[in-house]
Amino acid sequence: MSFDVEKIRTDFPLLRGNPGLAYLDGAATAQKPQCVIDAVSRFYSEENANIHRGLYHLSQAATAAFEHARERAAAFIGAREPRECVFTRGATEAINLVAASWGGANLREGDEILITHMEHHADIVPWQLVAARTGARLVVAPIFDDGSLDMEAFAKKISPRTKIVGAVHVSNALGTVNPVKEICALAHAAGALALVDAAQSSAHFALDVQDIGCDFLVFSGHKVCGPTGIGVLYGRAEVLEKMPPYQGGGDMIETVDFAGTTYRGIPGRFEAGTPDIAGAVGLAAALDYVAALRPHAQAHEEALLEYATEKLLAEVPEIRIFGTAKEKASVISFRLGDVHPSDVGMLLDTFGIAVRVGHHCAMPLMKRLGVTGTARASFSFYNTFEEADRFVAALRKIRGMF
Ligand code: ALA
Repeated sequence: MSFDVEKIRTDFPLLRGNPGLAYLDGAATAQKPQCVIDAVSRFYSEENANIHRGLYHLSQAATAAFEHARERAAAFIGAREPRECVFTRGATEAINLVAASWGGANLREGDEILITHMEHHADIVPWQLVAARTGARLVVAPIFDDGSLDMEAFAKKISPRTKIVGAVHVSNALGTVNPVKEICALAHAAGALALVDAAQSSAHFALDVQDIGCDFLVFSGHKVCGPTGIGVLYGRAEVLEKMPPYQGGGDMIETVDFAGTTYRGIPGRFEAGTPDIAGAVGLAAALDYVAALRPHAQAHEEALLEYATEKLLAEVPEIRIFGTAKEKASVISFRLGDVHPSDVGMLLDTFGIAVRVGHHCAMPLMKRLGVTGTARASFSFYNTFEEADRFVAALRKIRGMF
């Protein structure tokens, strides 16, 4: 199968409706194909009812759709069984769930949580919160100037005190791809658990939790062309089964009595209240859509990254790219001479080019790189070489304005 990007773009109403827009911000959120919009709309039009609660047909149909979405999520990441996938609001809530539930029950004073210097705030702050509650300590593995992880230093930071390792698979701010398989193996050798933040990697390449060897993996639906407000926490069944509930409420219990409450097994124990049922249905459609395009979509993104990087370096004076690791996904973080990234972002917008600017929810990483922020272009499989050309040409013009 060859990859026909122009044909793919016709699947996206927003791209069709805005032919002048070069949307280079898929790392923030991906655009949605018609099949996802239709799946959400169809659910509300034809199947809407609450799940796990009704004996009537409609409720059973909604429950089946929700549980089918769980099966799709499990298949998408290679989980052994659907019950290893908990629906959350997104990657952020998934990490908060692990930190609060697993961390709250297992961390003690003197224990260590090891993360990397390139983590998103979502893989820093939840650990800080649980560290403050338990007396555990957050330890940070350093990175090299090119934005790759210093694996030797990482290995040295692991000790018998390390209880859990949290590592981003693909850095949202730099694009660095981390060797998560090796990271998980190192964590396990020390008796620690390993959590992989796959919020970005899920958008770029196929995931296999069994091959990676992680205990937890998190991703957000909206980055893989699904709806916002839905995401997945994968947890190895043996680990999830021993974790206490995260939130209390309806649907997560077996029996409730004022004298005490018993909880459902996994994954229901972690899904209190009415979940985003339509979101899960939309996510299933998105995962089907994205999985069918791989690996051609990945190859297209890699080609775009190489093309845009070379062209930027060759044609835009004073461009400085942050994140030049050998293993890199299609994210280009940059500064343009001494032009403030916010000015770059606003001026690119006048050329119809959407990029993100700022600290990218990675303030410690920015500090390490010696900047307050960067501009970031991220390329998705629906982006084109022509958009990369427009991006480079616009930056040349912007450079000339200052
Ligand atoms: N974490 C998302 C980003 O990198 C929002 O833009």
